[in-house]
Amino acid sequence: MKLFAKKSEITAALNHLKNKQLSVGLVPTMGALHQGHLALVQKALNENDVVVVSIFVNPTQFDNKDDLTNYPRTLDSDIALLKTLSEDKIVVYAPTIQDIYQNDIVAQNFDFDGLELEMEGKFRTGHFDGVGTIVKRLFDIIKPDRAYFGEKDYQQLAIIKKLVEKHHIPVTIIGCPIYREASGLAMSSRNTLLEQDYQNAAPFIYKTLLEAKNEFGTKSADKIIEGVEKAFANHDLLKLEYFTIADIETLKPITKTTNKKTYRAFIAVYAGDIRLIDNIALN
Ligand code: PAF
Repeated sequence: MKLFAKKSEITAALNHLKNKQLSVGLVPTMGALHQGHLALVQKALNENDVVVVSIFVNPTQFDNKDDLTNYPRTLDSDIALLKTLSEDKIVVYAPTIQDIYQNDIVAQNFDFDGLELEMEGKFRTGHFDGVGTIVKRLFDIIKPDRAYFGEKDYQQLAIIKKLVEKHHIPVTIIGCPIYREASGLAMSSRNTLLEQDYQNAAPFIYKTLLEAKNEFGTKSADKIIEGVEKAFANHDLLKLEYFTIADIETLKPITKTTNKKTYRAFIAVYAGDIRLIDNIALN
């Protein structure tokens, strides 16, 4: 498996492949790979001749210094996991901060038509500018035919589709379903940071989403939201940051249900210092 740390080197290697008309899929990650990432990589392998997996903990998308410092970095085991899928069709790009940002570690400002102002955008200032900056740079460097993102970060997926549309980037964005532990907890690199008590408690998040889904259509959105807020207020270990039901097109909170719209429930929860997010389709 080829591993590149420099954009000049990976660009040269990819140019060579593209000259042979080979298609390139990109799976952008921040490493600490889990089964959810591997499912994205497997889908990309099925649909492309070559798959680039980028592994880069992007500093400009972190609004919290400790979160950035503590974010798991496990390059060796990430590579070992990728090798279980393919030795020769996967190329890893694990750049240094310098290779991506030179000496200017700042995010570009983006307008994602308001998608960036909801949910995560409200609670993580500048987060989506950081995500837009790194993803746009990765698209510029790799020039993939297709790029793969998980629906756990549903708002991120919507924003990347908007980025591609507004900046006319010639790449097809493919969203993939959330991968869950047997307990229902959405897979996330941050799960490895959960202490045992929090690990045991965290499946409550998905349980709550399932309940909301069951209630959707029979109870009002306000009543569902009230129920979720109460359930977390009574919880010893998990602290609710937000729970919202939003239109999947605009990501704006539901006002009243119409048959024409599609909704998802979105949640962010603190398990101690670890922030977890999840979401579920409601209709
Ligand atoms: O979802 C992630 O892991 C990151 O936000 C991404 C898309 C790799 C950008 O750093």
